[in-house]
Amino acid sequence: MKKMKIYRNYRKSNSITLFNGDSKKLLKKIESESVDLIITSPPYCMKKAYEDPKDDIRTFRQQHIDIFKDIYRVLKPGGSICWQVGYHVTNICLIPLDYIVYDIFTSENDDLEYPILLRNRVIWTFGHGLNSTQRFSGRHETVLWFTKGSDYNFDLDKVRVPQKYPGKLSYKGPNKGNLSGNPLGKNPSDVWEIPNVKANHIEKTEHPCQFPVAIPQRFIKALVPEGGVVFDPFMGSGTTGVASILENCKFIGAEILTEYYSIATHRIKNAINGNSVFRPDIPVLEPNPNMSVSKLPEEFEKIRRIKNGEY
Ligand SMILES: C[S@@+](CC[C@H](N)C(=O)[O-])C[C@H]1O[C@@H](n2cnc3c(N)ncnc32)[C@H](O)[C@@H]1O
Repeated sequence: MKKMKIYRNYRKSNSITLFNGDSKKLLKKIESESVDLIITSPPYCMKKAYEDPKDDIRTFRQQHIDIFKDIYRVLKPGGSICWQVGYHVTNICLIPLDYIVYDIFTSENDDLEYPILLRNRVIWTFGHGLNSTQRFSGRHETVLWFTKGSDYNFDLDKVRVPQKYPGKLSYKGPNKGNLSGNPLGKNPSDVWEIPNVKANHIEKTEHPCQFPVAIPQRFIKALVPEGGVVFDPFMGSGTTGVASILENCKFIGAEILTEYYSIATHRIKNAINGNSVFRPDIPVLEPNPNMSVSKLPEEFEKIRRIKNGEY
């Protein structure tokens, strides 16, 4: 296969476009109805290193209103949008960002030939994160998967996962006594347990908010036809680009900050050269009870006993 080449300026014929600038500007150049999947995680306006400290929830809303028309225009009929967001956290409360995205992305449906239709609200759950003391610790975010119109591509067989009990038999009906599962594995469902990219994750770069390769990779496998076009308007460290290359797709990405743009370019070049570092999308294992970190430290045990009134 011909080696993919990276271009900085968009042309429809490019196999990979990595744009260092504002995605609004890039969007204006992308040809209408040319993209199969738009998948991204936008800024949550939470005062991260890459955000303006003045940005707040109104900024989040406005940024989405500003780009939606072009997002819709560049997507092919039958194409998909996967928007990965969490919560906007203030010192008063949490605001679920997917409500805002849903509202904006579906607000024009009455006037559209191909309405934007929600197919799944995937719960992405992970084992680690900040520990809260005043509420339950947050261990999930969501991905809204929409399609443009009702005739869309979905290849379930490409993303089946192993059954816990593959030998299970039907216990009633005409198939009683026969194997009840699909030989290729089961539907991964709309709850995905995939480790988030924290300090010890093999995919970790200097970017503060990466999502793991497995998230875009699963969507690309299921939703994008062979050789299709994937677009990430807020590509950060280039995770979606890496997943696109692993799945033999074309990729268009925008990143406004040069520091992250360089990381993305480096990762995507490695992927092109077959040197990508990523955690394969395999089920999360149970903890190994023999590892020293799995054992309950004596001091914890003592405090628990005191709390239980045992001393
Ligand atoms: C949540 S991060 C995306 C992280 C990415 N999913 C990854 O795995 O690395 C959002 C990114 O959007 C970038 N960004 C913010 N506004 C932008 C804009 N108008 N155009 C392009 N990129 C932008 C930020 O610098 C940040 O790197």
